[in-house]
Amino acid sequence: MNKINAVITGIQGYLPEYVLSNEELSTMVDTSDEWIMTRIGIKTRHILKGEGKGTSDMATEAVKGLLKKTNTKPEEIDLIICATVTPDMQFPATANIIADKCDIRNAFNFDINAACSGFLYSLVTASKYVQSGGYKKVIVVGADKMSSIVDYTDRSVAPIFGDGAGAVMLEPTTENLGIIDSILQSDGVGRVHLHQKAGGSVKPASHETVDAREHYIYQEGQPVFKWAVSKMADVSVAMMERHNIQPKDLAWLVPHQANMRIIEATAKRMGIDKEQVMINIQKYGNTTSGTLPLCLWDYESQLKKGDNIILSAFGGGFTWGSIYIKWGYDPK
Ligand code: UT7
Repeated sequence: MNKINAVITGIQGYLPEYVLSNEELSTMVDTSDEWIMTRIGIKTRHILKGEGKGTSDMATEAVKGLLKKTNTKPEEIDLIICATVTPDMQFPATANIIADKCDIRNAFNFDINAACSGFLYSLVTASKYVQSGGYKKVIVVGADKMSSIVDYTDRSVAPIFGDGAGAVMLEPTTENLGIIDSILQSDGVGRVHLHQKAGGSVKPASHETVDAREHYIYQEGQPVFKWAVSKMADVSVAMMERHNIQPKDLAWLVPHQANMRIIEATAKRMGIDKEQVMINIQKYGNTTSGTLPLCLWDYESQLKKGDNIILSAFGGGFTWGSIYIKWGYDPK
C-alpha cells in the first residue's frame, strides 16, 4: 500500500476591518512610528471591534471562505483543530463554536494552545489523523483576538500584536507532497518570560487581579527575543540538513511574524535571501496562531506544486518548531 501524506489543498484568511496605525497607537502610549518600525517592523495591525465578537467570529469567516473556495460541503469535514491562545471562553473549545457557526455537524473538534507555535503543532497533529487513513478532510484554523489580552497602556507590548485568522484544508495524497517532516519542541522553563498572570486555575479572576491588570500579556521582551532568534534558526537549519535542502532549493521560508529582526536573523542563519521569505508583519503585526496561515494566504498565488517550504515559529511556553512541506498545487 502506498504511504499516505497529508497535503494542504486550500487556504483562506480573514482580517477584521479596523486598522490600527502606528500614528494612532502613538496617541494611546508613549511610542512612535520610527521606534516601532526600527525595533519591530510593524506599520499597521487589524483589530476586531464590536461587542460580543471573539476569536471564533474571525475563524468562522476564514473557515466559511475555505469551504467555498475548495467547494466543500460542511458535512464532509471530519475534524477541526483550532490553534488559539484567545479562545472565546475557557470552555467549550473554540473549535466547537466554529463548527456550529459553520454548520459542520459530522466532525469532532478541539483547540490546541501552543501560543505562537500553535499553528505548527496543530498542523502536525492534523496530519497524523489524515495519515491514519481514517480522516479525509481536516481543517486547521489558527486564530487569535490578541487585542483582548493586550494592555494598551503598556508600550512594550501594545505595538506588537494584531487580530486575524487563517485556515487550511488538509487531505490525503499518495503523491510525495504535503507535510514531509516536522521538528516540534518546547521548554516550560521559558514560561516566566511570557504568560498571563491571572484568569486561570492558579489565580482565578477577581477584582484584585483585574485592578492589577493581570489578565493582559506579561512579556519580558529581551529573553524572548534571544530564545526566538536561536531556536527558530536551530530547527530551520536542522530541517534543511536533515533533507539536504540547499539554500537555492528552498522556495520559501514561512516564519512566525513577531519581529522583523527575528525573521532576518533566521533567514541569515539558513543562508537564504530575503526574496525567499514570506513577510507580512508590516501589515498585520503578530497575530499569534494566525501568522503562518496568513502568510501562506497572502503568497498563495506565487506557490507552485512541489515547492520546498519551511514553516518556522517560536512562542510562549516556550514552544517552537519547523515543518517541511512540499506544496501541493499550482496557482488556480
Ligand atoms: O511571538 C512570540 C513572542 N514575542 C516575541 O517574539 C517578542 C520578542 N521581543 C521583541 O521583539 C523585542 O524585545 C521587543 C520589540 C519587545 C522590544 O524591543 P527591544 O529592542 O528588546 O527593546 P527593549 O525592551 O530593550 O527596550 C529598549 C528601549 C527601552 O528604553 P530605555 O530603557 O533604553 O530608555 C524601552 O523602555 O526602548 C523602550 N521602549 C519603547 N520606546 C518606544 C520599549 N517599548 C517602546 C515603545 N516605544 N513601544
